[in-house]
Amino acid sequence: MNKDNKQKLILAVPKGRILEELTPLLLACDIIPEDDFTNNRTRKLQFTTNHHNLDIIRVRAFDVATFVAYGAAHLGVVGSDAIEEFSYSEIYAPLDLDIGHCHLSVAMPIKEAAKENPKQWSHIRVATKYPNLTAHHFAKRGVQTECIKLNGAMEIAPTLGLARRIVDLVSTGNTLKANNMVEVEKILDVSSRLIVNRSTQKTKPYEIKKWVETFRKAVNDK
Ligand code: PRP
Repeated sequence: MNKDNKQKLILAVPKGRILEELTPLLLACDIIPEDDFTNNRTRKLQFTTNHHNLDIIRVRAFDVATFVAYGAAHLGVVGSDAIEEFSYSEIYAPLDLDIGHCHLSVAMPIKEAAKENPKQWSHIRVATKYPNLTAHHFAKRGVQTECIKLNGAMEIAPTLGLARRIVDLVSTGNTLKANNMVEVEKILDVSSRLIVNRSTQKTKPYEIKKWVETFRKAVNDK
């Protein structure tokens, strides 16, 4: 770790569509990232802000949780899906940011769903990015689950015979529709949370408290 990073707080934020909703919230918190932050073509991953002791890193959503859990980033913005999938004990999630609303669902091809009764499942195979949440959800009612881990494009799995069912995030529902699939069961409502590394909370309590309260005010004032 270089000397500058040791002094700074690092805020990890996810790439992708959540950034559109997050950018106004950052501004409401008076966090103004350097210009490159909104440039999709840049290969930079770490960005300075108008606060000399706060930098932002832009990483994959699941990796936000990992960077914060290990203390490589001190604060983060991530979906409750990732928080629950990993269950890192070092992550504290004090604030629902009221953005990134979607849900995690079981989905199947429309034609097959019509013939299925999820209550009768006893052993199923599922393609998903969420093996822990999926297995836990079905174990609660005694359904044995074989999860095939994918990192994206789950919706193609049934067509190609990898698994008849998927567990994935649904927002507008357009991806399912475009792949002739339908939701058969909801597992979890999801929204983005502000997360904090528990050790940092102990070593830098005032700075962390200041940022948590700043985000809280921005969310309440929306
Ligand atoms: C997510 C998710 C679905 C899609 C659902 O993927 O995995 O594929 O969004 O959104 P919709 O209901 O609005 O169509 P994302 O676009 O984040 O990319 P990913 O496949 O790389 O995870």
